[in-house]
Amino acid sequence: MTGVYIALEGGDGAGKTTVAARLVELLEEKGDTVVAVREPGGTALGEEIRRLLLHSSDMTAWSEALLFAAQRSQLAAEVIGPALGRGEVVIADRSYYSSLAYQGGGRALDPQLVRLINEAALEGVIPDLVVVLTIDPAEALARQADPDRIGRQGAKFQEAVARVYRELARSEPDRVRLIEMGDDPDDVARAIFAMIEERRLG
Ligand code: TYD
Repeated sequence: MTGVYIALEGGDGAGKTTVAARLVELLEEKGDTVVAVREPGGTALGEEIRRLLLHSSDMTAWSEALLFAAQRSQLAAEVIGPALGRGEVVIADRSYYSSLAYQGGGRALDPQLVRLINEAALEGVIPDLVVVLTIDPAEALARQADPDRIGRQGAKFQEAVARVYRELARSEPDRVRLIEMGDDPDDVARAIFAMIEERRLG
């Protein structure tokens, strides 16, 4: 039996974390066994890498991209792959699609190389569905009380991130979906829940 791997994506301050928590509740109410993960982090090594990524002083764009891929490889091997093998549902707060958008878009690294290092690191453990939460950039900025090193990169950086997400939704329509965040995160969680159900039935 194979489970299903759903990734929630979006720019900083889009409200993914609230939606992820609500989505986990909806799935559990329905009887699914759910494993919730977040990137960067989710393993002992991954949490150490998270600290480096979000708080250390400067690093090159490629150090950043490779550290994201390293923590992700660990998470896929230790947590996500085994959960899928047990037939469970994985709800991930970010995935390698964040690296395509942030390191490929925001940092302007070669997007094909960013994809390549990540797909190599993941060894086939890739999301079945990627839901990108979109939000007005001014509102997103207002929601960020205490931005981390990457969250402080400014409006141009966030615009580049948003542009790549839109391009990915166009080029991979079966896997990547955009959903606009309205006023109620519950509505968004219910819409994603319906997408998961549709996928399981189909
Ligand atoms: P996250 O903890 O999701 O923060 P937020 O809730 O503010 O979105 O992610 C931390 C930061 O790391 C965020 O600015 C996005 C960035 N990031 C990347 O640049 N590349 C990646 O591959 C990932 C997973 C995150």
